[in-house]
Amino acid sequence: MIYGLTGAICENCIRTAADLIRDAQQQKQMESKKNFQVKLLKPSEIKRRLDQYVIGQDEAKKVISVAVYNHYKRIMYAGSTDDVEIEKSNIVMVGDTGTGKTLIAKTIAKMLEVPFCIADATVFTEAGYVGEDVESILTRLLQAADYDVAKAERGIVFIDEIDKIARKGADNPSITRDVSGEGVQQSLLKLLEGSKVNVPPQGGRKHPEQQFIEVDTQNILFIGSGAFNNLDKIIAERMNTNVIGYNAKNRTVDKDNMLQYVSAQDFKTFGLIPELCGRFPVITYLNALDATALKRILTEPKNALIKQYVKLFELDGIRLEFADEAIDYIVEKAVELKLGARGLRSIVEKIMTNAMYCFPDSKDKAITIDKKYAQEQFEHSIFRFLED
Ligand SMILES: Nc1ncnc2c1ncn2[C@@H]1O[C@H](COP(=O)(O)OP(=O)(O)OP(=O)(O)O)[C@@H](O)[C@H]1O
Ligand SMILES: [Mg+2]
Repeated sequence: MIYGLTGAICENCIRTAADLIRDAQQQKQMESKKNFQVKLLKPSEIKRRLDQYVIGQDEAKKVISVAVYNHYKRIMYAGSTDDVEIEKSNIVMVGDTGTGKTLIAKTIAKMLEVPFCIADATVFTEAGYVGEDVESILTRLLQAADYDVAKAERGIVFIDEIDKIARKGADNPSITRDVSGEGVQQSLLKLLEGSKVNVPPQGGRKHPEQQFIEVDTQNILFIGSGAFNNLDKIIAERMNTNVIGYNAKNRTVDKDNMLQYVSAQDFKTFGLIPELCGRFPVITYLNALDATALKRILTEPKNALIKQYVKLFELDGIRLEFADEAIDYIVEKAVELKLGARGLRSIVEKIMTNAMYCFPDSKDKAITIDKKYAQEQFEHSIFRFLED
């Protein structure tokens, strides 16, 4: 007998109750598997939805759309009797900072009918060190699936900043312990290859008493993404040596956009272990954003930055307009910053701060930002910044 504050329970009852709970859970999972029905969006439809938010990056959007479509097909036909088993193709995306990697992931997440989570690889460390275990990725997926294990097992996981777990100091043997690098890559392997993983339902290491939930990762699609700084140089180096061997005359190499030639080999040189590269069979890249793309990003998407500010002012009953030259000025500054679209926000914010401070008090009901004003505000803010 086990005694509590107000009662007691015998061993038999505990066992019977545990069995009942397990049966109920299994029943729920079976049903979840049986009831899985989604509207299958064609790749072109997925891409069209992405187009509403993500400017350019056609190549990456196509690859992701196909991958997501195939993912749905695979899980819908999983368990059918014929013996052709469709394997998943995890994807990895490379592209400079601020080119839309995370944006693509978030936009996909919004339209999906399977659980989806974004994990940030920078927080992972080897077991035993301060940080998170990689299994916590699946905790998040479980949460996204309302702890319906069968549902989680057909989800999609986005691993952001995957380049940050590259082996560090490949040429520095004095680093004997690579806490956040290779060890983390090793533990990721297990998740990626499709195995049964014990997942702490509450995540983290703070609840040692929690019971683990077993999650089969076989059908979970993993999409990795990272900026992989200087990967273009690695690619260029490889191409250079190869090109000489393969008759360089017949090939023209687009030197300004080396990422398009990326291959698994380059990730290896970058510091990912070969086994990990092998588990991301699909590689895609995002282009650096030029002025034309930046201008479109500023004005076109459903939640374009300019539209956001217009809305902000509209809520105060003020009509805000940007002159075309002001927009060109912002784009010009963003190109100089080299932070991709990420730079746009900080520039526009600098230009608008003053107006946002003054206008709610003023009687004027309309404001137009022309180039002169934009330039004044921006340069003033930079100046102030230097003085601080
Ligand atoms: N292709 C794009 N189309 C529309 N907006 C974009 C695009 N690329 C970037 N942006 C805008 O810039 C912001 C930053 O982009 P995002 O977070 O996707 O960058 P990232 O590629 O993940 O960069 P990082 O490597 O620094 O994480 C987004 O909030 C988005 O508004
Ligand atoms: Mg990002």
